[in-house]
Amino acid sequence: MTNVPPPPVPTPDALAGLFRLDGRVAVVTGASSGLGDRFARVLHAAGARVVVAARRADRLQALCEELPGTLAVPCDVAVDADLERLVAATIEAHGRIDVLVNNAGIGEPMPAEDEPLDYWRHVVDVNLTGLFALSQLVGRQMLAQGGGSIVNIASILGLVASAPIKQASYAATKGAVVNLTRELAVQWARRGVRVNALAPGWFPSEMTTVMFSDEASITYLRRNCPMGRGGSFDELDGALLFLAGDASGYITGQTLVVDGGWTAR
Ligand SMILES: NC(=O)c1ccc[n+]([C@@H]2O[C@H](COP(=O)([O-])OP(=O)(O)OC[C@H]3O[C@@H](n4cnc5c(N)ncnc54)[C@H](OP(=O)(O)O)[C@@H]3O)[C@@H](O)[C@H]2O)c1
Repeated sequence: MTNVPPPPVPTPDALAGLFRLDGRVAVVTGASSGLGDRFARVLHAAGARVVVAARRADRLQALCEELPGTLAVPCDVAVDADLERLVAATIEAHGRIDVLVNNAGIGEPMPAEDEPLDYWRHVVDVNLTGLFALSQLVGRQMLAQGGGSIVNIASILGLVASAPIKQASYAATKGAVVNLTRELAVQWARRGVRVNALAPGWFPSEMTTVMFSDEASITYLRRNCPMGRGGSFDELDGALLFLAGDASGYITGQTLVVDGGWTAR
């Protein structure tokens, strides 16, 4: 075995730079509210040129006015032509894509025995097929340019059952996202494209309104989350930047869980 000396320890500035994305191009889906809006702001603050996508064009426009240089592309992730337009508009504006945050997602609680199959199919289209279709389009671009980082927003409900809140299609699609993350990661690992997932626990958003507005649900969260509370958006910032940028350069196919200990029980 050859004795390779370890690389020198970076300067404090170089270490902080592991979490910077200066000049990189980052696409965020579902950026019109909640986590996606936050992710777009954090990527922008880290120096990225951000492209935001979702169906509510007015929300995207308002976000662009706050974040100079940000491009809005109204888009339904369940519509193939919209995804093609999103990628084409990004390439036309910036010539490359370095980071993709697949964040758009939906889910409504209901018992499995009552879940209409049409609703199930729609959740699969948005949470899984849309995520795959966009990863495929962006993945081709990243492979051609020699690198990139995809961050899929999964959920703790892709790792454990959702009980007592019942949401079969949501849990199934998020579980599929966790394993699709591994599959894409391994297929593209030697060509510079990393694919990881971020699995949040409970965070207040439009999707989780019921969980945070009703006293019984808040009590349930307090009792069942080891940290005794739901998460705050800023507690996702570091995990997002870690997965998006160079700090996680030797990590691919992993799911980083940010859940106050929920899945450790
Ligand atoms: N909040 C939590 O506790 C939590 C926990 C784990 C995982 N997550 C995940 O985090 C992601 C964001 O959720 P959130 O909590 O921030 O909820 P949210 O505020 O409801 O955000 C969902 C986003 O997805 C977009 N979206 C929905 N359907 C779409 C479609 N067909 N095409 C394009 N965009 C679409 C929505 O925008 P438009 O309506 O404008 O299209 C919205 O911006 C989801 O993937 C969710 O599963 C959330």
